[in-house]
Formats: sequence, structure tokens, C-alpha cells
Amino acid sequence: MPRHCPHLLLITLALFAGFACTASSEPAGLTRAELLNPETCKECHQQHYDQWKGSMHAHAGDDPVFLAMNAKAVEEDGVGDFCVNCHAPMAVIEGYTTDGTNMDEVPEHLRGITCYFCHTVVAVEGAHNNPLVLSGGATMLGGLRDPVANPAHASAYSPLHDRTTLESAALCGTCHDIVNPVGQHIERTYSEWQASLFSKDDPSQQLTCSQCHMVGSDGLAAEYEGVSLRRIHDHSFPGVDVALTDWPSAEAQRALVGDELDNSVRAQLCVFENAGGVAVWVTLENIGAGHSWPSGAAVDRRAWVEVVAYEGDAEVWSSGKVGDDEAVSEYAGTDPQLFRLGDTIYDSSGEETHDFWAAVGYESRLLPAPTARSPADPAYVDTHVLHQYTLPTALPTRVTMRLRIRPMGLDILGELVAEGRLAQSVRDAMPTFTLGPTVIEWSQGQGEPCNPKVF
Ligand code: HEC
Ligand code: HEC
Ligand code: HEC
Ligand code: HEC
Ligand code: HEC
Repeated sequence: MPRHCPHLLLITLALFAGFACTASSEPAGLTRAELLNPETCKECHQQHYDQWKGSMHAHAGDDPVFLAMNAKAVEEDGVGDFCVNCHAPMAVIEGYTTDGTNMDEVPEHLRGITCYFCHTVVAVEGAHNNPLVLSGGATMLGGLRDPVANPAHASAYSPLHDRTTLESAALCGTCHDIVNPVGQHIERTYSEWQASLFSKDDPSQQLTCSQCHMVGSDGLAAEYEGVSLRRIHDHSFPGVDVALTDWPSAEAQRALVGDELDNSVRAQLCVFENAGGVAVWVTLENIGAGHSWPSGAAVDRRAWVEVVAYEGDAEVWSSGKVGDDEAVSEYAGTDPQLFRLGDTIYDSSGEETHDFWAAVGYESRLLPAPTARSPADPAYVDTHVLHQYTLPTALPTRVTMRLRIRPMGLDILGELVAEGRLAQSVRDAMPTFTLGPTVIEWSQGQGEPCNPKVF
């Protein structure tokens, strides 16, 4: 690589010819084909590369659950490129696939949501289903207003990539919002955020997707001559999903997901005697997510509360005690008091389905995001969600609770296994997370009955 390029020459050549520093006798700047490959970014952006490589963005086109579901949607319902347009957009743009069923033939570096895809977005033409327009060129767009010149690529500032602008949420949000081919608004992360406090123009309230999901730290944006410390942004994007096969940083990813979830929901547990007998009230509030909890793939998530009552050491009553290998949907039939969160979708005959691409209706039970900080604000909506249990026992001596979430239901994975589309080992690798701050114990004599709306 040439180490000293005249800045203007670099930018000019990069913009008009698609590569940089050809005037140098050393090797030329990266060609478009090289820029498409995240491996070429590693030389100077090792940290960004490593974080991205361990993210679900990198994994999106290799995820065995995606491959299984996509094949089903293509074969049974003819969805064509609908899924792969979001999960491996560069593979479609470069003409390597038309429906994602041949991902094993697609060069590895075009699978998933790649560096080149995000860093060449120049416009957003819609509200959902990945309406992003790429430049097709060789200039890497980002949030740096004064990027140090480098011989590999031209750089430029773009408000769509700057986490401090509201419009940056459109770059993320419109891919995180799905209207399925039959017109149902199945994933609503972007529209939930738009309805929340965080999308308001008031800078004291505003939080874009990247302000929460791309945590800043001081570091080097590139390991390259002349680059000094500045604010850089995390690319590991933990949410709820995890890699279920051997994948770089899989363990670190689970830890990050656990931390993310720990910061998302606050819980309160109240136990008291009333006219009906013994009441256990669990209140949950979404305090950390800028959209509903869970969000996005809420049809696939299984989130529920486990409550156990004890008399001394003996368990006298429980709800939500789902076994690690047990499907929540099966368990639910045995527990009429189960406190469960998530979306349920229906097919055209009104039956519950797992095929979100074909669903014609849905019911939603999620923890909403805040709409205003103060109850005095006319936009304020109370976002506490209360669940009341009645216990057929005397006042127990001790009651415990915890909120749990499984990224994807074992019923859904089991169905794909039964159809021969997914390996049993993938289903068996599905973890269940417990949100640390929601692990609460109440014991007799702890004090007055609590007000579930006051934390
Ligand atoms: C030869 C080293 C080198 C290689 C290879 C390289 N970059 Fe860079 N890149 C840099 C330098 C230097 C900067 C500027 C850093 C600074 O100013 O702090 C930069 C900046 C960037 C920016 C920020 C632009 C802005 O204005 O905000 C992005 C995005 C970027 N690179 C993406 C990539 C991607 C994607 C690849 C792989 C296709 C890549 N880079 C390959 C050296 C490199
Ligand atoms: C091309 C469409 C696309 C764009 C643009 C995009 N994402 Fe994603 N994102 C995805 C897909 C697809 C997945 C899930 C991959 C999987 O689970 O297999 C994902 C996963 C995630 C996850 C992890 C979710 C989970 O449950 O584990 C987070 C967080 C996330 N994206 C945030 C963002 C943010 C913030 C931005 C903007 C900087 C962004 N995304 C831009 C498509 C996109
Ligand atoms: C899901 C979209 C997305 C993907 C994929 C992605 N980036 Fe970024 N990246 C961003 C956004 C958004 C920013 C700007 C954050 C800001 O400044 O507010 C950014 C910033 C950067 C920067 C500037 C320094 C910083 O940390 O702000 C570099 C360099 C960079 N990315 C390199 C890469 C490389 C290399 C890859 C692939 C290995 C990659 N990015 C993949 C969205 C993405
Ligand atoms: C106020 C901070 C905040 C903002 C703003 C925010 N998020 Fe999140 N997000 C979180 C937290 C915390 C979680 C983990 C808990 C959860 O799953 O909801 C999360 C989870 C997610 C998930 C996984 C959700 C699931 O349950 O499957 C996705 C995808 C995601 N965010 C994307 C986005 C996008 C896209 C935006 C912008 C439109 C955004 N986030 C804005 C904090 C935020
Ligand atoms: C508009 C972009 C978009 C389209 C279209 C899309 N996805 Fe996704 N997909 C996402 C995003 C974003 C996530 C992460 C959602 C979250 O974490 O809440 C995701 C997550 C997933 C996951 C893993 C998470 C989970 O538990 O569901 C699977 C599997 C998946 N999608 C399959 C599909 C299939 C199959 C199709 C087509 C029928 C499809 N997707 C269409 C954006 C898209």
C-alpha cells in the first residue's frame, strides 16, 4: 500500500475511477471487487472487522435457521428474493442469487449485511423492507467529518451514517421493519421507535438506533499512519439472537446479548392477601429499549415470567416453570395463569402459524417504549404492564420471580427439524436468557403491600 497519497488526487481518482492513488508506483487502491470483501478492510479496521464478524449482521446469510425458513418460504409460498434482500443484500445486487436458496454457492464475502452495503448507502426510499439505495461507488460513507486520507478508499461524511442525526435511524430502521408479501406489518421496530419519545426532535430526549446500539469509545478508526484517537463506534450489534453454530465470537456474543437484555426491563413483585385470597402482582416496564420489548422478530421470541411460591423449602405453587428443553407453546396449555409476551400470527383460515411471510393477522403483547418522560406531558402513556396471579394457597413464606426470553421458540425450530430443513443440533443449541435485574425474591414480613405502579 502506498503510504503517502496526495489528498486531492486520492479523492478525485476515487470518485471518478473507483480506485485511488494510481499515480503511485506501488499497488493501486482497492478495486470495487476488493471493497465488497470485508476481509480487505481488516488490514486497517481490525477492531471494526472483528466486532462485525461476531454480529448477527455478518451471520444473517449463514444462519441455519434463516436458510431453513427461507427455503420453506421460497418453496411453499414463492417469496422469491423477499428474504434474501435483507439477509444478504449484496449477494442479490451482485447477481449471485435470486432467492437465497443457493447461499452455499454465493461467495462467503457477499453473505450477510456487509461493510460495503452499509457504508455506501446514499438514500432511503421507503419505510420498510430495505428500501436503501447504494452509490455503487468506492467512497466509504461514515460519520467522520474529517477522515484522514488513505490509499485504499475515498471517505466522506454522510448524515445517514451519523448517529446524532434523526435521519440515521432510517438507514437502520427501514431494514428493521417488515411488511410481508400479503401486506401485514410483521416486524415493527422502526415504527415503534418512531412512535416513541426517542424519535422526537428535542435533543435532550432523542436517541437514534445507533446511539443505543453502536456504543462509542475512544480509539483509532483505522490503524494507519496519521490517524489519531477519536470517538469510534461498536459494530457487534447485540440484540436477542445468537449464532447457533460454530461462529466467530459466539460466546462473547452471548455475553453481550445478556448485558443488553439486563439493561432493558425493570420488574416489581408484590405479594399480599386480598378478598380473593393470595395475590401475586408482577409489573414489568421497558426502560432500556427504544422500541417494544421484545421487538422485531416478536413472532419468534418466547418471553415469559416464572413465579414460584414456597412454604418453607417446599414449593407450593408455580407459573412459567418452563423446562430448558420444553417448548413454551406446549407448556402454555398447562398453565392458564402464564404471563407471556410476544406476537402471535394467524393464517388465512384463522389458525396460528409460524410462517410470518404468509400471516394475514397478528395479536401483539409487548412492553411498549416510553412516549414521554413526565405524566404531565400530554403525550405520556403509562407503559407499565401488570399481570395478576391468584394463588390457591395460604400466604406463602417466600415467592421468587424472573423474566426469561428465548430468541426463538422450540416449537418453530422443532417444526423445521421435523420437515428435514434444520439439524436437531441447531434446535438444541437455542439458549434461554434470564434478565438479571428481574430476579426478585419476596418474603413474608418484608413490609407493606407494594404499589405495582411505583418502582
Ligand atoms: C489502507 C488502510 C485502509 C483500508 C484497507 C480500509 N480503510 Fe477505511 N479508513 C482508513 C483510514 C485511514 C480512515 C480514516 C480514519 C480517521 O480519520 O480516523 C478510514 C475511514 C473509513 C470510514 C469512515 C469514513 C467517514 O468519513 O466517516 C469507513 C466507513 C471506512 N473506512 C470503511 C472501510 C471499509 C468498509 C473498508 C474495506 C472495504 C476499508 N475501510 C478499508 C483506512 C483504510
Ligand atoms: C440490510 C438490512 C439491515 C440494515 C441496513 C441494518 N440491519 Fe440490523 N439486522 C438485519 C438482519 C437481517 C439482522 C438479523 C440477522 C439474524 O438474526 O440472522 C439484523 C440484526 C440486528 C441486531 C441484532 C438483533 C438480534 O435480535 O440479535 C441489531 C441490534 C441490529 N441489527 C441493529 C441495527 C442497527 C442499529 C442498524 C443501523 C446502523 C442496522 N441494524 C442496520 C438487517 C439490517
Ligand atoms: C449495519 C450497518 C453497518 C455495517 C454492516 C458496518 N458498519 Fe461501519 N459504521 C456504521 C455506522 C452507522 C457508522 C457511523 C457511526 C456514527 O458515526 O454515528 C459506522 C462507522 C464506521 C467507521 C468509522 C469509525 C467509527 O467507529 O465511527 C468505520 C471505520 C467503519 N464503520 C468500518 C466498518 C467496517 C470495516 C465494517 C465491516 C467489517 C463495517 N463498518 C460494517 C454502520 C455499519
Ligand atoms: C434507548 C435505546 C435504544 C434505541 C433508541 C433503540 N434500541 Fe434497539 N434495543 C435496545 C435494547 C436495550 C435492546 C435489548 C432488549 C430488546 O430486545 O428489546 C434492543 C433490542 C433490539 C433488537 C432485538 C429486538 C428483539 O427483541 O428481537 C433490534 C433488532 C433492535 N434493537 C434494533 C433497533 C433499531 C433498528 C432501532 C432504531 C429504529 C433501535 N433498536 C433503537 C435499545 C435501543
Ligand atoms: C426488511 C428486511 C427483512 C426481511 C424482508 C426479512 N428479514 Fe429476517 N430479519 C430481519 C431483521 C432486521 C431481523 C432481526 C430481527 C430482530 O432481532 O428482532 C431478522 C431476523 C430473522 C431471523 C432470526 C431471528 C428470528 O428469531 O427470527 C430469521 C430466521 C429470519 N429473519 C428469517 C427470515 C425469512 C425466512 C424471511 C423471508 C420470509 C425474512 N427473514 C425476511 C430483516 C428481514
